[in-house]
Amino acid sequence: MKVVRTIAELDLPRHGVVGLVPTMGALHAGHTALFRAARPQCDVLVGSVFVNPAQFSDGADLSAYPRDPEGDLVHAAAEGIDVLFAPSVEEMYPPGFATWVDPAGAAKGLESDHRPQHFRGVATVCLKLLNIVRPQIAWFGRKDAQQVAVVKQLVRDLNLDVEIRVVETVRDGDGLALSSRNALLSPGEREQALAIPRALATRDAAQAREVLAAARLEPDYVEVADLDGPTLAIAARVGSVRLIDNVLLPKGEHS
Ligand code: PAJ
Repeated sequence: MKVVRTIAELDLPRHGVVGLVPTMGALHAGHTALFRAARPQCDVLVGSVFVNPAQFSDGADLSAYPRDPEGDLVHAAAEGIDVLFAPSVEEMYPPGFATWVDPAGAAKGLESDHRPQHFRGVATVCLKLLNIVRPQIAWFGRKDAQQVAVVKQLVRDLNLDVEIRVVETVRDGDGLALSSRNALLSPGEREQALAIPRALATRDAAQAREVLAAARLEPDYVEVADLDGPTLAIAARVGSVRLIDNVLLPKGEHS
């Protein structure tokens, strides 16, 4: 595996299938599922690790975000990634950087009501990564269902020549969706966080709110939205850790 920190050093072949799995690192089995889906489909598999400041609303959240550069190398190499692109903030946002992708449509509501500039940061960094790596295929996780909708919209609206593939949410044995942020939960908070998958299992927004309330969780939102199909989506703060999760509802099963 080649570890590349600058765009100039990225010397990718222009033949064969180049695939990209963008991540913010602190790699876990959710990311690994993306790498495993991608590996057999690509001649050259690029994983990126970049904690993108532009998608964080406040500096405290950004500095608290889990980082594990050494673990990332081990995981990425174990999954057979060919190139790990791990640029610095200065490499991605050099002095004078002043152009942003400002998505509406799928970016409206849900996350954006609570993290106003979040999808502007996500869309901008995804466009940059897609332009830098120029993959034919890129993989994203269903756990961030609104992000998938925003990225697909970006590809459609800006005529990007890339196919977006989606991988199902990977959960721990207790049902909690894997997230880099889970590392920040205390054991008690983790127990409390299990109300989120329990709430999703009701498949009903009103019942889900009750389950969260019983666990003394105050959600940012509990909503059914159309994210590639009717989806019950939840965001809730557990202590200082904000978690999101969702479940696709069978068609016709709305509330
Ligand atoms: P990050 O949170 O590191 O996630 C990277 C990719 O892994 C995303 O596509 C996310 O949906 C997927 N993923 C995370 N947890 C998962 C799980 N439990 N099951 C399945 N997939 C999971 O999402 C981002 O980074 C950033 O916003 C990024 C797209 C890299 C842009 O900065």
